[in-house]
Amino acid sequence: MAIDRFGRNIHYLRISLTDHCNLRCVYCMPEDMTFRPNAELLQDDEILLLMRLFTQLGFDKFRLTGGEPTVRAHVVDLVRGIASTPGVRSLSMTTNGVLLSRLARPLAEAGLQRVNISLDTLDPEKFRRLTRWGKIEDVLQGIQAAEEAGLTPIKINAVVVRGYNEPDVVDIAALTVDHPWQVRFIEMMPFAGATDLQLNQGVTAQEVMSRIEAAFGPLEVANDGKLDGEARIFRIPGARGEVGFISTVSEPFCASCTRARLTADGRLRLCLLREGEVDLLTPLRSGATIQELREIILEGIWYKPWGHALSEGVIPLNRVMSEIGG
Ligand code: 5AD
Ligand code: SF4
Repeated sequence: MAIDRFGRNIHYLRISLTDHCNLRCVYCMPEDMTFRPNAELLQDDEILLLMRLFTQLGFDKFRLTGGEPTVRAHVVDLVRGIASTPGVRSLSMTTNGVLLSRLARPLAEAGLQRVNISLDTLDPEKFRRLTRWGKIEDVLQGIQAAEEAGLTPIKINAVVVRGYNEPDVVDIAALTVDHPWQVRFIEMMPFAGATDLQLNQGVTAQEVMSRIEAAFGPLEVANDGKLDGEARIFRIPGARGEVGFISTVSEPFCASCTRARLTADGRLRLCLLREGEVDLLTPLRSGATIQELREIILEGIWYKPWGHALSEGVIPLNRVMSEIGG
């Protein structure tokens, strides 16, 4: 078991399959973003070796992220390898959905269990403005394909940005009335690259909730008031789906964190919002033994930071969001 010095059992790994993306969301990366050459990214066999190590250390929950994980070459074969690693109990993916109309079924057949799809507005023009060049129809078709392929329950992630989509939260929440989806509103977090917008145009979960309650009346507490992952879960009365709020910035949930992250270039990142990382790629490529790698990982986890310090103005500046994977 992997335990940190605060007694948290770390058993959830989010693996960024690539820093590349086919969109350029304003809250995530600059428009002129440059990506890493493929040779600097973990190769398929390296990811599968690390998967075996992490499962042996008790990790049982995995999420594949990016950038955009579906743009990775041979992603279906890689997912098959990851899914068939002994000890994997939960395997999901966070995606922008653009390529899902083609990939949902093969990914499900390869062993992927669920997807979280990003969708910040239902207005095609606003969608284009937020993603800089995305077509909303691609995402809507992707959601449908994911549902048909059984990648359920579907979760929709919406980041709320003032001046872009704060009134749209009502229409997005309304999706849950007829669909058994969980729509999750995420507070925008500050990273390198787009900090002006990130620092000045955030909207709190509380404000989003007020806007939704103004439209539908008081929300009912769902999931017995327990967090689902990092989200607090509610329901519009009579709705099939649920509405969740992820208040990383205004109400951190660090005390119950069970996660670590593997960046696309093979660094173990212990906290999304802290710069500290442990290099696994270099030892992996310079012939470290399994035992040595295991010790490097366990020591990194032991020193996992308690939590972020956004409220004290400490912002991680060494990477943009797409390199870490949300
Ligand atoms: N703050 C919060 N969430 C973000 N995402 C990307 N950038 C940010 C940010 N600055 C989200 C995306 C997607 C996931 C990968 O991370 O919307 O759901
Ligand atoms: Fe791409 Fe996701 Fe970042 Fe948007 S939020 S640019 S879809 S990685």
